[in-house]
Amino acid sequence: MSRFLALTASPEFERHLTASLGPAHVVQAVASGATAADILALNTGGSVDVVVCGPDIEAEQVFALATGLDRLAPDIVVVLAAVTSAELTLAAMRSGVRDVIAPDAPAELLRHALERAAATSLSRKQAAAEETGQKRGRVLAVMSPKGGVGKTTVSTNLAVGLAKVAPKDVVIVDLDLQFGDVASGLSLDPQYTISDAVLGAASIDSMVLKAFLTPHSSGLYAMCAPRMPAEADLIKAAQVTTLINQLSLEFAYVVLDTAPGLSEEVLAILELATEGIWVVGMDIPSIRGLNNGFEVLRQLDLMPPSNTVVLNFTDRHSGLTVADVEATVGRPVDIQLPRSKTLPFSTNAGIPLVHDGRRDPALKSLRDLVAKFSPAGPPPSRKFSQRRAAIS
Ligand SMILES: Nc1ncnc2c1ncn2[C@@H]1O[C@H](COP(=O)(O)OP(=O)(O)O)[C@@H](O)[C@H]1O
Ligand SMILES: [Mg+2]
Repeated sequence: MSRFLALTASPEFERHLTASLGPAHVVQAVASGATAADILALNTGGSVDVVVCGPDIEAEQVFALATGLDRLAPDIVVVLAAVTSAELTLAAMRSGVRDVIAPDAPAELLRHALERAAATSLSRKQAAAEETGQKRGRVLAVMSPKGGVGKTTVSTNLAVGLAKVAPKDVVIVDLDLQFGDVASGLSLDPQYTISDAVLGAASIDSMVLKAFLTPHSSGLYAMCAPRMPAEADLIKAAQVTTLINQLSLEFAYVVLDTAPGLSEEVLAILELATEGIWVVGMDIPSIRGLNNGFEVLRQLDLMPPSNTVVLNFTDRHSGLTVADVEATVGRPVDIQLPRSKTLPFSTNAGIPLVHDGRRDPALKSLRDLVAKFSPAGPPPSRKFSQRRAAIS
């Protein structure tokens, strides 16, 4: 998922661009007179990847824009759609334009060229972050193909456990946008939710963003789900990506609780997740679902660089063994979370087990999970450009 700005007054070109890039990317129209400063104002949290200048924009304006951005935000890649001549291409490249593409190029060609540009933008962003020593936190995404298997239980306990190790440096984000229950699982009464953070003025500035988080007594911060399920429809995957990106610059750990399945948000955050935590129940549909999910993610080249499988509700009466699960999923189970009498109570009371430390067989497993991610170390590295290129 990359963010493209279309600088054009031609509805026809804008349509061609949007259709060529398809739903996997965000295309946003900007006024055809936009300057480098206007583009920078839209570049919240470094979210703009590519500016595509339409065939109706004067070459001089494009060159000035490319030169300006090259100086102010060199990770933003400028591409020009124009009928090319050797002279124009040369002048364009000299000004900082990355590529010149025929405006009526077939959709697939256009998409490939633009995804190449987005990949360039990402590697420039990464290089810049490394150069300035800008530290990014670990993004731990808790996921499962099915609901009710313990994602929220795992994510809230993990986040609270990490907050004890790294107080004020952990944030949990409820990405189960429709039916999220992180607030209830942590007994929080949020003043603001993710809707306020991504739809309001806070989406602009990471300083303001912190004011939209709800503090928990463990030292954890929470970005809670919208109050009304209908609000979820207003939130776009790209806005979620920008938010997670911003939070990862502020916190050592960003723990993501998600809705079941591989929704658009989950696919979008998988690009940012440094670690995937997969929760699976002791039942065949759940285990098959995980296996199929892994298959799809491998094909899309979206598997996070490091993964943990949590097998939940382990007991001796399910008719399945851990070895059966491992054989189906094709990888070892990392954490076994036993069926517990206390966990449903702790969910209902809104006090994660790790927080009150009540004696329970599940507590040791949850602590083992926390220990797997602490202390804060560098996240596993990933190869962004390759991944981007493979999403198409
Ligand atoms: N190991 C477990 N033993 C007993 N109950 C559990 C266990 N894990 C989760 N639960 C309970 O199952 C219910 C669903 O868990 P939840 O974490 O909300 O799942 P999800 O977020 O995947 O929908 C909750 O009431 C929770 O307390
Ligand atoms: Mg949940």
